[in-house]
Amino acid sequence: MKPILGTCYYPEHWDEALWPEDALKMSQLGLKLVRIGEFSWSRIEPKPGEYDWAWLDRAIEVLGDQGLKVVMGTPSATPPRWMLDRYPDMLAVDEDGQHRKFGSRRHYCFSHAPYREEAAKIAELMAERYGGNRHVHSWQLDNEYGCHDTILSYSDAARKEFRRWLKAKYSDIAVLNEAWGNIFWSMAYSEFEDVDLPNLTVTEPNPSHVMDFRRFSSDQVVVFNKALVTAVRRFCDKPLIHNYMGRITEFDHYKVGDDLDIASWDSYPLGFLVDRCGASKEWQRRFERQGDPDLQALHHDLYRTVGRGRWWVMEQQPGPVNWAPFNPAPLPGMVRLWTLEAIAHEAEAVCYFRWRQAPFAQEQMHAGLLRPDSKESASYPEIEAVIKEISELGDIACCQADVALVFDYESCWAWEAQPQGQGFDAFGVVFEFYRGLRRLGLTVDIVRPDVETLDGYKLLLAPGLFNLHDRLLEQIDRFDGVSMLGPRTGSRDQNFRIPTPLPPALDGFDCTVEYVETFPKESARKLQSNGSIHTWFESLQTSESVFEFLDDGSPVLVGNGKNFYLGAWPDELAMQSILLRLAEKAQLSTEVLPEGVRKRETQSHEFVFNHNAESVMFRDELLSPAEVRIRLKK
Ligand code: GAL
Repeated sequence: MKPILGTCYYPEHWDEALWPEDALKMSQLGLKLVRIGEFSWSRIEPKPGEYDWAWLDRAIEVLGDQGLKVVMGTPSATPPRWMLDRYPDMLAVDEDGQHRKFGSRRHYCFSHAPYREEAAKIAELMAERYGGNRHVHSWQLDNEYGCHDTILSYSDAARKEFRRWLKAKYSDIAVLNEAWGNIFWSMAYSEFEDVDLPNLTVTEPNPSHVMDFRRFSSDQVVVFNKALVTAVRRFCDKPLIHNYMGRITEFDHYKVGDDLDIASWDSYPLGFLVDRCGASKEWQRRFERQGDPDLQALHHDLYRTVGRGRWWVMEQQPGPVNWAPFNPAPLPGMVRLWTLEAIAHEAEAVCYFRWRQAPFAQEQMHAGLLRPDSKESASYPEIEAVIKEISELGDIACCQADVALVFDYESCWAWEAQPQGQGFDAFGVVFEFYRGLRRLGLTVDIVRPDVETLDGYKLLLAPGLFNLHDRLLEQIDRFDGVSMLGPRTGSRDQNFRIPTPLPPALDGFDCTVEYVETFPKESARKLQSNGSIHTWFESLQTSESVFEFLDDGSPVLVGNGKNFYLGAWPDELAMQSILLRLAEKAQLSTEVLPEGVRKRETQSHEFVFNHNAESVMFRDELLSPAEVRIRLKK
C-alpha cells in the first residue's frame, strides 16, 4: 500500500480568485486529496428548495484541473437556520432538559425523522450531481458524529422513538419489567408509553434502563448514517467514509463502520492530551507539545478495525488548535512524526486540517498550512519534507499483530451507568493495557467483542468487558494462544443483571468473584511482586494457580498457564510485570522501551518514534527529540 496526503479546504470561505492558486500550491506540495463541502449547506441551498450548485461545480473543476481528487462532504452537521423554522423540534435536548441552540453546529437530534430525511435528501442531490464526477474520489458522510456531546438527546422525538425501540425489542411490557428488574422500587410499567427517558430522575435511574437508552441512542446514529449511505449509493459507488473523533464512545463505531467502506478519524494530539486521555499534570507537562505517546496510536488501531482494514486520518493537526484550554504549537518534528505514525499503523491517507487559517468565526485561532494572509505557516516546510519522504518510502506491507486487545462500546456505556468506583471506565482500562503493551514494544490489533476469529494471534486481552459475547467465548475456547480476561469482564448479562453462576463463570476455569471493593486511586494496594493495584479489586475464590498476590495474600492474577483472569486494575509497574508474564507464556519477544519511545512493526518496516522533547538512548544510539527511525525489514 502506498499512502497519500491531502488537506481540508473550504472554497466557500475564500474569494474565487484564490482557488486556482490554492489548487496549484496544493498540487505542487504533493497533496493528492482535498476534502470539501461538509459545512456548506447554506451556500448550496440558501433558501429551502433554492439551490446554487454553480460555485461548487467550479470549485471541483479548479481542484480537479490540478490533478487533485475531491473527497466530497455531505453537509448535515450544519443545517442552515431556515431548517429550524421548518422543524423547531429538531434540536437535541441535553440531560438537564435544555434544548441546544442554533449558532454553531451539530444541533440536530438523531431521532428527528423529518430532519434525517432532509439530511438524506441533500446528500442524495449532491450524489446525483457529483456521483459520477471524475474528480470526486470518495464521500465523507456528515462530520464527526458525536462531537460536542451530541449523541444522547432527551427530546420528544427521542422519547417517542425510544418507546418504539423498546416495544420492538421486548414486545411485552412484562418482559421489559422482568429484564430490568422493575420490581425494585416499584418501578414496574403498565405499558411502553409509560417509559420515559432516563434523565432528571431523583436519584440514579435503573442501569438496565440506562443501558437500553444508550443502545437505542447508538442505534439512532446507525439509522441516520444508513439513510445517508442509501441516499448517496443511489447515484454513486465510490468509497463512503465518516470522520470519527478521538475518545467518543457514545455510539458503536463498529456498527456505523459496517455500512461504510473506509473509517477515518480526526487527530488533534495536543488538545487530546489535555481533554481526553486522563493524563496527570506532570504527564501533560512532559508531552505538552508532542501529545500522548499512545492515544493517537490506539485510535489508529481502533479505526483500522472499524474500517475493516481500510482507514485514514481525515484531519491532522498541523499547528496550534483553538479549542483546548491551552493551545501550544507542536514541537518541531511532531507533525512529521504524527504523519509517519499514522502510516506506520497502515493509514491509506492523511489529510491536514486545514489548508488556510480562517480570519473569521470560531476557529480563527486554528492553524492551517497557510496563514490567513496566504503565506506558508510555520509547519509548512516540515509538511513539505514529510510528503517528499513518504513518496520515497515504498510500499507498506500490512500484517496482523501478535496481540489482540478487545475494545467494546457497550462496556463504556455500562460502566458509565454503574462505575462503582470513581474513575472506573472501560476506555481508561483498555487504554492502560494498550499503553502497557506498547511499552514492551508490542504491536497490537484492537478487536471487536464479536471478533470473527482469533486465528493468528498469540495473546488475547479482554479487560473491562461488561458482557462476554457468545462468539468471543467460542473463539477463546478454540484459541490456541494465551488469553487474559478481567477486571470486571463478563460481570453482567445483556440485561445488566449479575449472572449466576457468579462471574466470570468461564467453562472449566474455577474462579468466582466473591465481592468487589473500590477505593481512590491514591489508596493503591501493593502486590507481593512489583507495583500496586488501584481503584478496583475483586476478591477471587479459586483453585487455579495464583500468579500475583496482594500483600495480604489475596489472589489477583489467576490462571492455568493458558487462560488467565485478573481481578484488579494494575498500576504501571504491576502492568509491566503482568504483561511480561503473559507475553512470555505466549512466547512473544518483548523489548522494554524507554519512556516516550514507541515502535510499530508492519511486515515491511519497523518504525521507532521518540515522543520525548529530549534525546533518549535507544539500542545504544541517541534518538533526538521527535525523531522517527524507519528500518526496512529484510
Ligand atoms: C474537528 C472538526 C473540524 C474542526 C476541527 C478543529 O473536530 O471536524 O471541522 O472544527 O475539529 O480542530
